[in-house]
Amino acid sequence: MSNTIEKALQRNQQQRQEQSSDDAAPAASGSASNDIKEPMFLDLEKLEEKGYVSVSGARKQINEEFREIKRKLLSNAFGKLAKTLNNSNIIMVSSSRPSEGKTFTATNLALSIASEQDKTVLLVDADVLKPNVLFSLGIERRNGLMEYLTGEVDDIADVLYSTNIDKLKIIPAGKTHHLSTELLASQKMHDTIQEFANRYSDRVVIIDSPPLIGITETAVLANFAGQAVVVVEEGKAKMHDIKASIERLNPDMAIGFVVNKSVYNDGDMGYYGYYGYGSE
Ligand SMILES: Nc1ncnc2c1ncn2[C@@H]1O[C@H](COP(=O)(O)OP(=O)(O)OP(=O)(O)O)[C@@H](O)[C@H]1O
Ligand SMILES: [Mg+2]
Repeated sequence: MSNTIEKALQRNQQQRQEQSSDDAAPAASGSASNDIKEPMFLDLEKLEEKGYVSVSGARKQINEEFREIKRKLLSNAFGKLAKTLNNSNIIMVSSSRPSEGKTFTATNLALSIASEQDKTVLLVDADVLKPNVLFSLGIERRNGLMEYLTGEVDDIADVLYSTNIDKLKIIPAGKTHHLSTELLASQKMHDTIQEFANRYSDRVVIIDSPPLIGITETAVLANFAGQAVVVVEEGKAKMHDIKASIERLNPDMAIGFVVNKSVYNDGDMGYYGYYGYGSE
């Protein structure tokens, strides 16, 4: 499988003009925020028990896996390649089909990056048809992206929540609307993401997105994001689906794959491999 993925990526890379070396030099500056609401409380012990990345930095397999994955993403976001990408700090997480592990991946990525010294993360639940970020973090429903996009809430700051992890903020999906996916493709969504990219240039924005096949608006998100992580479920994802997914993404963006739900010899399940844009 990795061979085919690599070939597909090579094609993607050939479409890019500029290639430069890959040593990340993260920008470090504080970013102002005017969040005013009750923070969200993540039960970190419970999340760790459920197999999520631990923010305490314990040496667990999942932490190591995400350290690998995020290293490349952060390098693309802030290193020398960043200037070759439009909104390099905006990362959408998607997959060909449902249930391959998008939310688990987006959430762990956010937790892992939030444990970096000099990075802040905004996790946005844009899988508006199957909003799952809050549920998987054990947090009750709140207003979110949908309320903002429909105009029910005026200010994006009203749906942007602080958490008990200093460097992690969350915009939940809010309630599903009959025009949910159309709203994702709206000019307002575009402007909102653009604003995040510019105002918080030291911040990584992770967007949990709907699947690429069957939901056309997901591809519109690819026009705002500089990077895409495509989650591929080992043994389940079909090659022609993976190819179709890449075609729906923007050829100018950095595309990486994570192969998920790999079962190891000891029976544990996890991630392996990250095949992505960059010179390494
Ligand atoms: N590497 C993993 N280890 C353990 N559990 C996992 C792993 N990846 C995914 N899961 C579990 O598999 C289920 C599906 O994953 P998840 O909800 O992240 O998929 P999804 O692509 O977001 O699905 P949907 O299309 O419904 O949004 C969840 O219960 C999740 O916790
Ligand atoms: Mg999901």
